[in-house]
Amino acid sequence: MKKTYVYLLMIIAGILFLSGCKDKETKQAVAKATAQSARLVKAHDTKISDATKQTATQLAKDTTQIAKKAVESVAAHAAYTIAEAKKTIQNVVVAQAPGDRGKELYHKCAGCHGEHGKKRALGKSALLAGQSASDLANKLIAYKEGKRNVAGMGNLMKTQLASLQKSDILALAEYISTFQTNKGNTQ
Ligand code: HEC
Repeated sequence: MKKTYVYLLMIIAGILFLSGCKDKETKQAVAKATAQSARLVKAHDTKISDATKQTATQLAKDTTQIAKKAVESVAAHAAYTIAEAKKTIQNVVVAQAPGDRGKELYHKCAGCHGEHGKKRALGKSALLAGQSASDLANKLIAYKEGKRNVAGMGNLMKTQLASLQKSDILALAEYISTFQTNKGNTQ
């Protein structure tokens, strides 16, 4: 019986010893594994934060690029719109100016040529009504330069045009070309 007790005690001690050892090893293994996973987690975190940084940088670059392009396109569009607006204004000015200016300048011509260009000036000139703007302009420029004299009155016409600029002559020609031969008025 005594022997049995001794054996039992030995076995228990052995078990205790072994379990003690095992415990220590387990603890170590667990500690090792924990450290390892902590390192892995840290490395992973670093990788993730690197990747995040890269993505953020790329995003910032892309956004800057897009914003830059947007600004450029807005600027280009604005410039185009301004250019178009300028053209439109110019066209309006050009479209209105000759008529108004021409009409204004024609007052002093109307006495001889008639209000609607249907009078033979001093009974000598051809009728202005029905003539094209380019024909009228060419004739007026020729008179101004002293190169035209159809009925011996070229000088008289030269004097009439002496103080006029080329733009005035073009405006006059444009205005006179609106006179139509078939309009009810007589003069
Ligand atoms: C004092 C009268 C008189 C006035 C004012 C006058 N003209 Fe004349 N115009 C004439 C006479 C005369 C002729 C013919 C000249 C010639 O011998 O070539 C003529 C010729 C012309 C012709 C050529 C017609 C043709 O087809 O041969 C034009 C165009 C013309 N005049 C435009 C004008 C304009 C524009 C004005 C105003 C800036 C004007 N005239 C003012 C008397 C006048």
